[in-house]
Amino acid sequence: MNVLILGSGGREHAMAWKIAQSNLLTKLFIAPGNAGTKEVGTNLDISQTDFEAVKKAVLENDIKLVIVGPEDPLVKGVHDFFLNDAELVTIPVIGPQKYAAQLEGSKEFAKEFMVRHNIPTAAYESFTAENIPAGHQFLETLTPPYVLKADGLAAGKGVLILNDLQEAKDELTEMLANKKFGAASSKVVIEEFLDGIELSCFTLTDGKSYVNLPNAKDYKRIGEGDKGLNTGGMGAVSPVPFANAAFMQKIEERIVKPTVEGLQKDNIPYKGFIFFGIIKVGDEPKVIEYNCRMGDPETEVVIPRIKSDFLELLIATGNNELHTKTIEFKDETACTVMLVSGGYPEAYEKGKEMHGLDKVDGSIAFHAGTTTKDGKVVTNGGRVIAITSYGESFPEALKTSYENIDKICFEGMNFRTDIGFDL
Ligand code: AMP
Ligand code: GLY
Repeated sequence: MNVLILGSGGREHAMAWKIAQSNLLTKLFIAPGNAGTKEVGTNLDISQTDFEAVKKAVLENDIKLVIVGPEDPLVKGVHDFFLNDAELVTIPVIGPQKYAAQLEGSKEFAKEFMVRHNIPTAAYESFTAENIPAGHQFLETLTPPYVLKADGLAAGKGVLILNDLQEAKDELTEMLANKKFGAASSKVVIEEFLDGIELSCFTLTDGKSYVNLPNAKDYKRIGEGDKGLNTGGMGAVSPVPFANAAFMQKIEERIVKPTVEGLQKDNIPYKGFIFFGIIKVGDEPKVIEYNCRMGDPETEVVIPRIKSDFLELLIATGNNELHTKTIEFKDETACTVMLVSGGYPEAYEKGKEMHGLDKVDGSIAFHAGTTTKDGKVVTNGGRVIAITSYGESFPEALKTSYENIDKICFEGMNFRTDIGFDL
């Protein structure tokens, strides 16, 4: 079977790497892909949100399964586009339709869903520009810190956590009246602050059955010790040591099952990944957020820990046959460390030549923001490459990643030396 993956990050390279190992694969395409995906498949120079171009590529290359990596094409309706096109309707798309993608695309939609299906999450209220004074009053009833969330997608920047009441009121006004995050903050969810440690859990579902993928913990801040600005993710570890069997059982019973059943009760079709951002408060799991896709860099540790044929699971998802499949994990731990461009997550330069990738030994280099120029691999994004390793324990896996990172360099290269520090 010919397969297309939409996206160009480390997540998509990890998926491509795994799918390329399947006996069920004939040809693999990645659109637009990066310098790493090119090693395991064919990159197509089209934008992941240019649906007409995607259609042309699918028909030209006889593609029979499409896997959507990032949220953007899903929230913009790529799956709906396929369902509404006579030539594409029979080609399964892994990734939910636009309506269900609101689980990620609208904080209020996700909150209402959780409340309706009794899924544990932080208490909340939502506000618009019409009721800013009510928002200020609501903030007065809370104890700090105050959590303000832009309802829509804001490139990971839409959540503010503030200690000062006046600052929280001012920011609420900024978001609603002055559209601090554009249309994304025309509605704001104010939430109870949850104090705990976070992990990411992943489920693949065809809308009825599901399989759980390995869990992971990612490190979002740019600086050591989880300080500084938020990034897309600087590293990840799987499995999460503090998530023991009893805790994972609670997540399954109270969160995963009610979510998949809730989608069915609400008549919301869902084929694809559900990413549960979970926080452990005491011994209890609560949902911080849903995403309608896999995490990045979590995928760079989750996928390497899957022993089963991943493409077989995806095909079964596409055909509504996931109930006939089970998933097996590798026992080893996997860790990844992200190498980023100097300046990231603020302004940074691209096009820096990368050296030493050929010397990497015992780790997997998943490309995130790379491209090729004059036959050389050069940087092409903020997050550049994720160095993943296996180990008996996570310190052992990390040691291998850091040893290999010593061999790699590009101008301005930055990374965190303390992934897993809190575990
Ligand atoms: P979100 O985009 O909803 O995942 O929020 C981004 C980050 O803000 C999360 O990963 C948490 O670290 C933090 N966060 C979000 N909501 C809360 C909350 N209710 N209590 C504490 N921290 C939160
Ligand atoms: N690593 C967090 C995310 O993918 O949203």
